[in-house]
Amino acid sequence: MSDEEEIAFREMFPLVIGALIGITVLLIVVAMLIDSRTSANGVYIPAGETRTSVLMERLAPIGQVQYGEPEEVAVVEEDDAPVDPRSGQEVYDQVCAACHDTGAAGSPLLDAADEWEARLEERGFDGIVQSVIDGMGAMPPRGGDQDATDEELEASVEYILEEAGVSW
Ligand code: HEC
Repeated sequence: MSDEEEIAFREMFPLVIGALIGITVLLIVVAMLIDSRTSANGVYIPAGETRTSVLMERLAPIGQVQYGEPEEVAVVEEDDAPVDPRSGQEVYDQVCAACHDTGAAGSPLLDAADEWEARLEERGFDGIVQSVIDGMGAMPPRGGDQDATDEELEASVEYILEEAGVSW
């Protein structure tokens, strides 16, 4: 290094060090500011929580030992998801046809218009739908399909009446 370079270096050196110290102090101050807003005594407090709620969560027991009978556990039904309703014909084919296509156990046949008309006259449309829901004589409730909804059963009765050519 020449003398001139040496002098220039000695002039610059304190400036550079000074600037670095300045930046360091600035970063420390910024860090402290951020810390003081998000935590208390080193406990990080997420927005919407309090110092107490955070501490309670940390101190909560990780499990419990239970003696004696287990508590009742709520069982979640798996089939809760709503299923698209079946059409009247689908329900009829799957559930009702076994009897009403064959006349089993004295079931009125699908095409026995007189029979359906008489029942309609006696109880009305809603009445005969209710008979299917509740069951009647040899016909089990819901025609034996516990999963069939009221709407599906109503649609299947409509299907029967349409097929039999009975208006209501
Ligand atoms: C196990 C046989 C069986 C099945 C399955 C069955 N039914 Fe019936 N159903 C009968 C019999 C038997 C009767 C006559 C009952 C009586 O009059 O005592 C009847 C009567 C009816 C009636 C007349 C009710 C009234 O109030 O007079 C309707 C409507 C009917 N069924 C619709 C259906 C539909 C819709 C389904 C399918 C969801 C169905 N049935 C499934 C046997 C069955």
